[in-house]
Amino acid sequence: MRLEDKVAIVVGAGQTPGETIGNGRATAMLFAREGAQVLVVDRNLASARETEAMIKDEGGVASSCAGDVSVDADCLAFATACIERFGKIDILHHNVGIGVGDRGPIETAESVWDKMLDVNLKGAFLTTKHVLPVMREAGSGSIIFISSIAAICSMNAIAYKASKAGMNALSQAIAIDNARFGIRSNVIMPGLMDTPIAIEGISKALNKTRDEVRKGRNKQVPLGSKMGDAWDVAKAALFLASDDASFITGVNLPVDGGQSARIG
Ligand SMILES: NC(=O)c1ccc[n+]([C@@H]2O[C@H](COP(=O)([O-])OP(=O)(O)OC[C@H]3O[C@@H](n4cnc5c(N)ncnc54)[C@H](O)[C@@H]3O)[C@@H](O)[C@H]2O)c1
Repeated sequence: MRLEDKVAIVVGAGQTPGETIGNGRATAMLFAREGAQVLVVDRNLASARETEAMIKDEGGVASSCAGDVSVDADCLAFATACIERFGKIDILHHNVGIGVGDRGPIETAESVWDKMLDVNLKGAFLTTKHVLPVMREAGSGSIIFISSIAAICSMNAIAYKASKAGMNALSQAIAIDNARFGIRSNVIMPGLMDTPIAIEGISKALNKTRDEVRKGRNKQVPLGSKMGDAWDVAKAALFLASDDASFITGVNLPVDGGQSARIG
């Protein structure tokens, strides 16, 4: 019960349909298993409600809220809903991220760049905008952003990479600016994970079977030649959210089986 008596907002806690579980849903479930009351936020309310039901089936406490992180009024609404339903906000876990359609500058459409920066980077700024005043007043809080090792590794997807690198910088700025209020801000950079958004998405985009996609991704991971999964991300998030990480802020933590440490 490492999050006993805590209230967490998990944004992007719904799920792209697929065979496995996604990072956001697994994190919402693990937070609830560890005692947190969880506000499950997603643009897709039906998907958020599925996560809520899964938490309740296990005996946890959860409530759902629709919200698009790129819309300021939605971010204000879910921060307000959390206070109304649970009375406080101890943890903000920002999982939302999209990543389709960009390559190098020549091939990438302006509209793709705008959409990805809007959702991935502006969305991260807007979710914190309305949660930080609540945390400041309480004199504590833990914010976790789901970035990607794409932020620091070579990747020919300029909008995704730039948005995630921006997120790392945003988190460090928030960490420094809010340290005096007892608020911590940290980033998780997942590597190659066996989640629906990756496997189903790539399999469709490249017209390959899921098995072919999995084999190709597994080969790239130094630790055991195997991708991680959503529970690996969730467990790292649990640590950063909990009081065990009370002296840790401004960190960008790879959860990648060593991929970002490999040179060449
Ligand atoms: N799977 C990987 O290999 C991998 C690797 C690195 C980083 N990541 C990061 O992990 C995160 C996604 O993981 P997941 O497995 O939970 O994905 P997912 O697609 O299963 O869940 C993401 C949820 O975010 C929601 N969402 C999308 N846009 C939104 C918006 N504008 N406002 C509110 N909600 C929105 C979707 O409806 C979905 O339910 C992303 O930030 C992604 O960049 C994944």
